Formats: sequence, C-alpha cells, structure tokens
Amino acid sequence: MGPQIKKVLISEAQIKRRVKELAEEISRDYADRTPTLVSILKGGIVFLTDLMRDLSVLHEVDFMSVSSYDSAVETSGVVRILADLSRNIEGKDVLIVEDIVDSGLTLDYIRHILLARHPRSLKICTLLDKKARRRIEVPIDYVGFEVPDEFVIGYGLDYQEKYRNLRYVAVMVPNE
Ligand code: IMP
Repeated sequence: MGPQIKKVLISEAQIKRRVKELAEEISRDYADRTPTLVSILKGGIVFLTDLMRDLSVLHEVDFMSVSSYDSAVETSGVVRILADLSRNIEGKDVLIVEDIVDSGLTLDYIRHILLARHPRSLKICTLLDKKARRRIEVPIDYVGFEVPDEFVIGYGLDYQEKYRNLRYVAVMVPNE
C-alpha cells in the first residue's frame, strides 16, 4: 500500500489561535486558583504543552496513562490504569486536558476515578469533540473544535502511533 493522503481539517494557525483563546478563558476562570492540569497519555501531550505555555495562571501538571479498551470491555466503558497520577488531588482544582472525546467512555471512567479522590473541583478541556459518536454524556467545560465523525490524526493524535507530531489536524484519505 502506498502512502496515505492527508487532508488538513484544522490548520496550525487555527489551532494556535483557539489554544490561546482557551488558555485566556481558563486563566480567567481559575484566576485565584492553582489548577492541576491532568493530561491523558499519549494523545493529550501536544495540546497540554501548548495550552500551558499560553496560561497566565499558576498551575501544576500531572499525567495518567490508561489502556484503550478492547471491544469486549467497550460496552462497560472500563479502562485499565497503566500509570497513575504522581500526586494526591484531594482538595485540588483538577482540569483534565484531552486530545479528543469520541464515545466519551474513557473520559467518563477517568472522571469517576478522579472524583472519588475528592478534588475541590473537576473540569474537562478537550481540543476536539467528535460529538456524533458520543455514547455517554460527559460534561465538557472547554472545547477547541467540533470535528465530524472521521478518523483524525496530528497534534497528538495518532494512526498506529504515527503522525502525532503534525502541527495540524488532518483526516486520512486511504489510497485506492
Ligand atoms: P473515547 O473513549 O471513545 O471517547 O475515545 C478516547 C480516545 O480514543 C481518545 O483519547 C483517542 O486517543 C482515541 N481516538 C478517538 N477518536 C480518534 C481519532 O479520530 N483519531 C485518533 N484517536 C482517536
């Protein structure tokens, strides 16, 4: 199979502008707080590193890694924690920073795990929202862009672990 063609969906300039806007909004909302930004590995890291550098509010970062569910567990929405946060979040203002919300199952599960640790507050920020695919209602506080029901790559998102480095978000168009 030859190389696949990539069609740009969201340009680098569009992402830059939107990330700055989100950072300004978050900085305003957390003006008198020091939020802990929680990034879900690996897809969330590119968005996190850009977002945090546009924040004007003091903040901490932490990471979590979860297994992608296989089809058997997808229905229950159960995911396995591969690496947990490094710090206790009790009493903290936690902001989950995600790359994309698709079915919402992963995020719903993570949200409940984190809520059980009694943070002071828990909000969710996602760069991309693939709303049409939602299977469970998840409260999302900050959304970068809504995307259509297509497989997207770039800006942290992978296709078989590749293309995370693209500065834009694209859809893959398979060759004949
Ligand atoms: P959800 O549990 O169905 O919401 O999916 C969550 C995870 O699936 C995301 O954090 C991504 O890692 C992955 N994912 C969902 N849609 C896409 C896509 O279009 N491209 C790449 N990864 C995706």
